[in-house]
Amino acid sequence: MSKYWIAPSILAADFARLGEEVDAVVAAGADLIHFDVMDNHYVPNLSIGPLVLTSLRKHGVRVPIDVHLMVKPVDRLIGDFLEAGANYVSIHPEATEHVHRSLGLIREGGAKAGLVFNPATPLDHLAHVLDLVDLVLIMSVNPGFGGQQFIASSLAKLTDAREIIESSGREIRLEIDGGIKPANIADAARAGADTFVAGSAIFGTPDYAATIASMRRALAE
Ligand code: DX5
Ligand code: ZN
Repeated sequence: MSKYWIAPSILAADFARLGEEVDAVVAAGADLIHFDVMDNHYVPNLSIGPLVLTSLRKHGVRVPIDVHLMVKPVDRLIGDFLEAGANYVSIHPEATEHVHRSLGLIREGGAKAGLVFNPATPLDHLAHVLDLVDLVLIMSVNPGFGGQQFIASSLAKLTDAREIIESSGREIRLEIDGGIKPANIADAARAGADTFVAGSAIFGTPDYAATIASMRRALAE
C-alpha cells in the first residue's frame, strides 16, 4: 500500500448492486472501503448496518473496511461491526458519553480505532486519548449526506491534527471526509491528510479507475 490511501465511500454507490460496486472500486485501485453508518438520530439520515457488512464479506470483499459510525448511542453497535469484519471503526465524541471507553472497546475487539471531528468540534479530546487512537478523521462537511461542498476551514484543522500526531510520535492515520475530489485532494494532502474518503467524486463518475488515477496523479504532484 502506498503512503496515501484512497477510501471510496459506498454511501454514493448503487445499493441494489453493492457487491459489484465494491468489487469495481477495488479493481479500480481503492485501498480501503469507507462504510458510512447513519441512524436518523445522531445525523439526519439513515443508511446501512452490520448485516450489510457481513454480506459484503460473504460476497468475497477482502480489502480493509473503514466503518464510520454516525450513531448514538454507539457502544452496542461497535461489537456488531467488529463481528461483521470491520478493520477500522471510527466514532464521534458527541455520540458517546465515554470516549475513552468506546475507543477501548474497538481496540479490545481487535480493530483499529478512529476518532472523528465535525467541522465545529475542537480537537481537544485528542490529546487525552492519543494512545487509544489509530486514526483521526476530520470531517470537511457536516455528517449526514454525500455530495456536499468541501468546507475550507478543515484544511487548517488537518494541519493542527498533523502537528499533534507528529509530536506524539505515534503511528496514526489522518483521514479527511467530505467533498473530496481530484481538484482538492492535493490541498488536503498538503495540509497533512494521508487518507482520503471520496463518495460522489468516485461513484458519480462512469470510470472509477480513471477517477482514482486522477486523484493519485494529483497526490503525486
Ligand atoms: C458524510 C459521510 C461521507 C460521505 C462523503 O456524512 O461521512 O463519508 O459519504 O461523501 P462525498 O465524498 O460525496 O462528500
Ligand atoms: Zn464518512
